[in-house]
Amino acid sequence: MAPSRVLSLLALTLSLLAVASTVSGHNITQILSDSPDYSSFNSYLSQTNLTDEINNRTTITVLVLNNAAMSSLAGTHPLSVIKNALSLLVLLDYYDPLTLHQLSEGTTLTTTLYQTTGNATGNQGFVNITDLKGGKVGFGSAAPRSKLDSTYTKSVKQIPYNISVLEIDAPIIAPGILSDITPPPAPAPAPEAVSAPTPTPAKSQSPAEEPSRAAASPPAPPEDDSPEGAPSDSPTSSEKSNAKNAAFHVNAPALFTVLVTLAATFLLL
Ligand SMILES: *[C@@H]1O[C@H](CO)[C@@H](O)[C@H](O)[C@H]1NC(C)=O
Ligand SMILES: *[C@@H]1O[C@H](CO)[C@@H](O)[C@H](O)[C@H]1NC(C)=O
Ligand SMILES: *[C@@H]1O[C@H](CO)[C@@H](O)[C@H](O)[C@H]1NC(C)=O
Ligand SMILES: *[C@@H]1O[C@H](CO)[C@@H](O)[C@H](O)[C@H]1NC(C)=O
Ligand SMILES: *[C@@H]1O[C@H](CO)[C@@H](O)[C@H](O)[C@H]1NC(C)=O
Ligand SMILES: *[C@@H]1O[C@H](CO)[C@@H](O)[C@H](O)[C@H]1NC(C)=O
Repeated sequence: MAPSRVLSLLALTLSLLAVASTVSGHNITQILSDSPDYSSFNSYLSQTNLTDEINNRTTITVLVLNNAAMSSLAGTHPLSVIKNALSLLVLLDYYDPLTLHQLSEGTTLTTTLYQTTGNATGNQGFVNITDLKGGKVGFGSAAPRSKLDSTYTKSVKQIPYNISVLEIDAPIIAPGILSDITPPPAPAPAPEAVSAPTPTPAKSQSPAEEPSRAAASPPAPPEDDSPEGAPSDSPTSSEKSNAKNAAFHVNAPALFTVLVTLAATFLLL
């Protein structure tokens, strides 16, 4: 009796340890669910499966849109186009409110998740972050002649240096990104077009008409996609912090370990 009890207890302990050791990471769905302002954005992240890619990565920044800002994308475009647009809001580097204001030369180009899809051409997959005068920080496509149409509004969440979630006031529209698969590109991408009294279609520029100058001078990528090598300065002290928001990832190997040890325990009994 005693030996098998000990063995099964040991097996159970080992199983629990195996599970516990895989508890880590973040859950963007969970982070955004704290605020109803991001329900639309959050829903589209799930629908496009971008949640998995975001949760799997470290050293990233997610630029989120509140429901009002999201309405210019939601419903008006196919899911594949929305996925591309949202991929452009996932920066493969860590920016918190402080580092936004400490960019060397006050401006930088950063790689986005969109760049990793193979869908991006020219500079489409890069985002320009510029520390503007008066404490404002602007975001825009790195493609030539793009404007810094999106502005940082507030911080939502930071888990240094794994994930930073920042709110911006408008989607970042790279040239052509909204017409990726749609046959007719929506002629009214900007809110100002709505308030224009005279409906002159000649004025509306389709993003797809952008000349292919983009391909002529791709920027030197700030860094290539390095999901695991980069975060060298992650502090060990904060490992236990933020347990509330940490996702409980139970990966396949851990489950396998549990099942095997449990099976072994029953065989011994
Ligand atoms: C950051 O990510 C690493 C790797 O997934 C994880 O081990 C660590 O616990 C995370 N840190 C925090 C504070 O969540
Ligand atoms: C993330 O959080 C959401 C909402 O709490 C939950 O439904 C989902 O299963 C979590 N995902 C992971 C990978 O833990
Ligand atoms: C998301 O993943 C599911 C299951 O893997 C798949 O059926 C669905 O088509 C994917 N959706 C998108 C937009 O990629
Ligand atoms: C994320 O990681 C899980 C578990 O390691 C894996 O099953 C899944 O395919 C990964 N998803 C992406 C999009 O990389
Ligand atoms: C970002 O855009 C601004 C405004 O167009 C430009 O002045 C700046 O040089 C760009 N930054 C980089 C790193 O290209
Ligand atoms: C662009 O992205 C969509 C959706 O993610 C995908 O179905 C399509 O194959 C991609 N196109 C290219 C050229 O990679």
